[in-house]
Amino acid sequence: MRDNCGRTIDYLRLSVTDLCNYRCRYCMPESGVCKCAHEEILSMEEYVEIARAAVGLGIRKIRLTGGEPLVRRGLLELCRQLRAIPELKELCLTTNGSLLPQMAKPLREAGVDRLNISLDTLWPERFAYITRLGKLSDVWTGIEVAEAAGFRNLKLDTVLIGGFNDDEIGDFLNLTIEHPWEVRFIELMPMGPCAGWEKGCFLSADEVVNRYPALQRIDNCGVASRYRLPGARGTVGLISPLSHTFCGDCRRIRVTSDGRLKSCLHSAAEIPLRGLHGAALEEAIRQGILQKPLRHHLAEHPSDTPRNMNQIGG
Ligand code: 5AD
Ligand code: SF4
Repeated sequence: MRDNCGRTIDYLRLSVTDLCNYRCRYCMPESGVCKCAHEEILSMEEYVEIARAAVGLGIRKIRLTGGEPLVRRGLLELCRQLRAIPELKELCLTTNGSLLPQMAKPLREAGVDRLNISLDTLWPERFAYITRLGKLSDVWTGIEVAEAAGFRNLKLDTVLIGGFNDDEIGDFLNLTIEHPWEVRFIELMPMGPCAGWEKGCFLSADEVVNRYPALQRIDNCGVASRYRLPGARGTVGLISPLSHTFCGDCRRIRVTSDGRLKSCLHSAAEIPLRGLHGAALEEAIRQGILQKPLRHHLAEHPSDTPRNMNQIGG
C-alpha cells in the first residue's frame, strides 16, 4: 500500500531477537543487553501472524534481522512458515555470518532466498577489535558454505568508519573483481553507542567514488546507488543515509522483537502490535504505514530513536 507521502511500502524488516553473539563497538555496549524476559519477545506464531497481516497490506519482501537472527531458536521453522505465504516474493536475512558455517544449508532449505552478511574489515585483528567477540575466519567459512549451499548474489555490508576501515576501501572493491558479490558501504549512523563519536568517524560514502574514480555508475537498487569496477563480476553499493537522505525511496517498515511497529528507523514513534489479531492487527499496521514520517533528521542531530541498532535490526 501507499503511505501518506505516496511511497509504496512493500518491504518489512522483522527483528527476531535483540541478542547477538558479537558486541560491535558502534552498535552494542560491551556488557551486551539485558536479556529481555522470554515473554517480552514475540513468539514464532506472533511473527507469522504479523507477517501474514503485512503481506495482506501489500508487503512482498521480508528480511529477518536481529540482533543476530541466527541465534534465535526456532528460526528455521519461522523461515519455512514465512516462505509458505503465497504472495511473499522474497525472504531475505541479514547476519553477521558467524553461524553460517552450520546454518547456511538449513536456511537455504528452509526457503531463504538471499543473504546479507556484515563485514566491516578484512583484517583479523581489526575484526576482533570492532566486534569484541568475533573471529574473521568464521565469517569467511560462512561465506564459502553459503555459496556452496546455493546462495547467489551475496551482499557484504561494510559500515564505513573514518580512521578504522577507510584504508581498506580498495581491498573491499577488489573482492568484486573475482566474486559476483555486491560490496556495500554504509555510512555510520549516529545512534546508540556511536552517537557521540568524533566527527571524523562519520565518513560520507561519496569518499568511495572520490578515491576510486574508476568506479562506473550503474543503477540504483533499493536505497543503494550502485557502481562497478570495469570488468568486475560483482558490484559496489553506496548507502548514504546521512549525506544523501534516501527517505523518498524508502519502501520499508520494521517490527522490533518486542512487537512494536516502527515506520521509520530514526523516529521514536512506535505502534504496539502485541495482543492484536485479525482486522485490529491489520488496522494497526495500516496506521503505522500511513504515519510514516517524510524523512529523518540525522544530518541535523543524532537519531530520535532511543533504541540501539541491535533492537531494531538496521
Ligand atoms: N550505523 C550504520 N550501520 C549500523 N549497523 C549497526 N549499527 C549501525 C550504525 N550505527 C549495521 C551493522 C549491520 C546491520 C545489522 O546494521 O553493521 O550491517
Ligand atoms: Fe551484532 Fe550486528 Fe550489532 Fe554487530 S552490528 S553487535 S553483529 S547486531
